[in-house]
Amino acid sequence: MSGGTNAALGPDLGEIDLFDPGFHATGDPHAVWALLRRRAPLYRQTTVDSRAFWSVTRYHDVCRVLGDHRAFTSERGSILTQLGHDDVSAGQMLVSTDPPRHGELRRPLNRRLSPRLLAAWEDRIRRAMREFLRPGLDGGVWDIAERSRRLPMTVAGALMGLPEDDWNDLTQWTGMAAAPDDCAFRVGSEGATLAIAHHRLFEYFARHLRRRRPDEPSDDLIGHLMTMTAGDAPLTDEEVIYNCYSILLGANATTPHTVSGTLLALMENPEGFRRVAADRALIPSLVEEGLRWTSPASSFLRHAVSDVEIAGGVVRAGEAITAWVGSANRDEDVFADAQRFDVGRADNRHVSFGYGPHYCLGAGLARMTFRLLFEEFFSSFSAVEAAGSAERLRSVFISGLRHLPVRAYRQ
Ligand code: HEM
Repeated sequence: MSGGTNAALGPDLGEIDLFDPGFHATGDPHAVWALLRRRAPLYRQTTVDSRAFWSVTRYHDVCRVLGDHRAFTSERGSILTQLGHDDVSAGQMLVSTDPPRHGELRRPLNRRLSPRLLAAWEDRIRRAMREFLRPGLDGGVWDIAERSRRLPMTVAGALMGLPEDDWNDLTQWTGMAAAPDDCAFRVGSEGATLAIAHHRLFEYFARHLRRRRPDEPSDDLIGHLMTMTAGDAPLTDEEVIYNCYSILLGANATTPHTVSGTLLALMENPEGFRRVAADRALIPSLVEEGLRWTSPASSFLRHAVSDVEIAGGVVRAGEAITAWVGSANRDEDVFADAQRFDVGRADNRHVSFGYGPHYCLGAGLARMTFRLLFEEFFSSFSAVEAAGSAERLRSVFISGLRHLPVRAYRQ
């Protein structure tokens, strides 16, 4: 248990512990974030083992922390569970590298994920979405949160050229890396789970690269990482491995929770469901609202490079700061009727894909996946209902569902 140290909070906020994964599973983070936005927009807490970090919860402060790499570096880790540990991938892995090197790594990858190149994947992804929805067709109960876990492998895994036989292991190991405290993934302690996950994934990618013939480059994303140049040199093996890890984790950790969380929101908002069912042109705005509502990548870590004034206080050079994306996306000063799930929301400037230089590399792919999934969903089903209780994931990084049993009804 760690405690808040901000005097402005008052007694009702004295016990806030944003570092506790259990709080994110069973507490009410949205209520707490709303209080922080109002009463302590820069909030400091210290963990039991004396690691301290600041939190920002307002939309504009979150954008500033994520977007201003000169003030807030990513090179000391970008995930809260890394607090107090050095990031060995700094300067090599996209997400833990600051500009200008970051841009050199990112530009050639970005070109590979352009809308034009992604369009060639549309039919294949649509087929994968149909297959994903198949268990619902017989009218029985299926756990859509559990099934969603493997869904990104059928998209990003295929795009990377990873063999289908390995998809189950990769799903499990990326789950362990993203939510090491959750009972679906935890092996012993949280630290041990993270260490095992990293070891398995890095060893897997090292082996995978050795199996690929360098004289026969393949036309997939890993083939591209192996042959592209960043600046004017090819990537080292370590850089290829780190970025394989980052791309797969980026896809696997997040995508499933927007799928299950958007469906849960639709079940809780039958009027919204009926609107989209009656007007499929609303699917793109349903996707954006689902992203805002679920905010699956819930928090990101940075460290101040020098003393920085922000949110009415000062963060000293070297101190850690967490930007709470899930909170920014419900900021009442930015979103009209922010606590309402609105399938037709106009001007939806959510930051679910981040903000600034590290803006999600897979955003286009994720958006296309969700669009195709919901097009297929509304073509197949006329209704969906809960068939058991939803269970939330225990994680300070990923906000989402571990279980969501549902029953769907065919058109
Ligand atoms: C709902 C789906 C997704 C969400 C909500 C999401 C969210 C995010 C966010 C917030 C960041 C910024 C991290 C930071 O500022 O430190 C990010 C970066 C990243 N994402 Fe995603 N992501 C999603 C899907 C994907 C997919 C499908 C891929 C892979 C194809 C992917 C790969 C990456 C990579 C490689 C980065 C690092 C980019 C950089 O540092 O320049 N993500 N993502």
